[in-house]
Amino acid sequence: MKKNFLKLFIIVMIFMGVFFALKERSERHLLASLVEIEISTINQWRINGGLTKAMNRGSVGVEVRLLQYFLANVEDNDFSHNLITGYYGEETSRAVYKWQEENDLTPTGMVDSKTRKKINEVYYSNLCPSSSGEYSSKKLAPIGKDIGLPKDYVPKDLVDITDRVKTIRHMCLTKEAAMSLEEMFEDAKEEGIVLAVTSGFRRNELQDIIHRSYIELRGNKAKDFSARPGHSEHQLGTAVDLTGESVSFRPVPISFGNTPEKKWLKKNAHKYGFVLSYPKDKKEITGYIYEPWHWRFVGKEHAEKMKNSNLTSIEYLRDLEKRSVDKKIEEEKKTEEDKKAGEDEEKEESFFTWGRVLGIIGHYVNENIE
Ligand code: DAL
Ligand code: ZN
Repeated sequence: MKKNFLKLFIIVMIFMGVFFALKERSERHLLASLVEIEISTINQWRINGGLTKAMNRGSVGVEVRLLQYFLANVEDNDFSHNLITGYYGEETSRAVYKWQEENDLTPTGMVDSKTRKKINEVYYSNLCPSSSGEYSSKKLAPIGKDIGLPKDYVPKDLVDITDRVKTIRHMCLTKEAAMSLEEMFEDAKEEGIVLAVTSGFRRNELQDIIHRSYIELRGNKAKDFSARPGHSEHQLGTAVDLTGESVSFRPVPISFGNTPEKKWLKKNAHKYGFVLSYPKDKKEITGYIYEPWHWRFVGKEHAEKMKNSNLTSIEYLRDLEKRSVDKKIEEEKKTEEDKKAGEDEEKEESFFTWGRVLGIIGHYVNENIE
């Protein structure tokens, strides 16, 4: 009886083990394919130099897929990701019509040369937009689950990094971060470490698409590794997701932690101003699981200090912000006190002057009466 129970127990455990292993494998596969579809589509766009053909109902092929990808990602268009099929059907035509109406083009539902030109313009400016200039730099802003950015925040000096460093698709970063990254990649290469970027600046809308896709795949668990829109360091234009040659430049998640590239970064990245935002076993503080691929540029001075402090970047940056606010309050208090002291002195002086005038008059009156 006891033996049978043990046998049954072992069989159930094996089944459960196989079930969970398969489930995790398929989730991982789904996740990787989602990222890869995005990358290959954007790459294709870049290789083609945008849309090149006129398209209409019944058209098929890569360019139709690119068009559908664009429609699915563009603002205010409800064209679903599920409709990215490579076939130009009724739904695609309807979405094109709607987009043309919203962009002051003659609405036909067909991709003519004017529509194509405008789509290409919007596509590239969406990836690397210019800032409205409204906000000051947020290079050292602490960003986390409970501290966000204005939804329309775009850093001031985004530059295209596609021709500066190895990337797996078209992307951009702030100029300062891009220059440091270039230097870091070059030095790493001299030591036999070849790095590449899988993600750079992501505007709020792109973060929204990515976040929603992950939620669809992983449910609430996605919140452990994907920031909701307005709360991603990628919106700062200073954060990068990295990969390396040892994993064939695939956007690998946790396993990137065991690569020679990650080891090199751990030892050297701070010298170029980069810090790991989400270290191992710090989820309680950062809100996110270990992300060995996600690095943020804060400048050499702060990266060095952060490394020596052993604090996570969010703790360090919060502290830095608090100290600068405290300093400001202190300065304001001092200015206020100085101003008050000046006013008191003035009062005393004027009283003294009036006192003297009255004294002289009194003296004069007295003298004359006598
Ligand atoms: N993976 C980080 C948390 C992000 O989505 O910004
Ligand atoms: Zn990232």
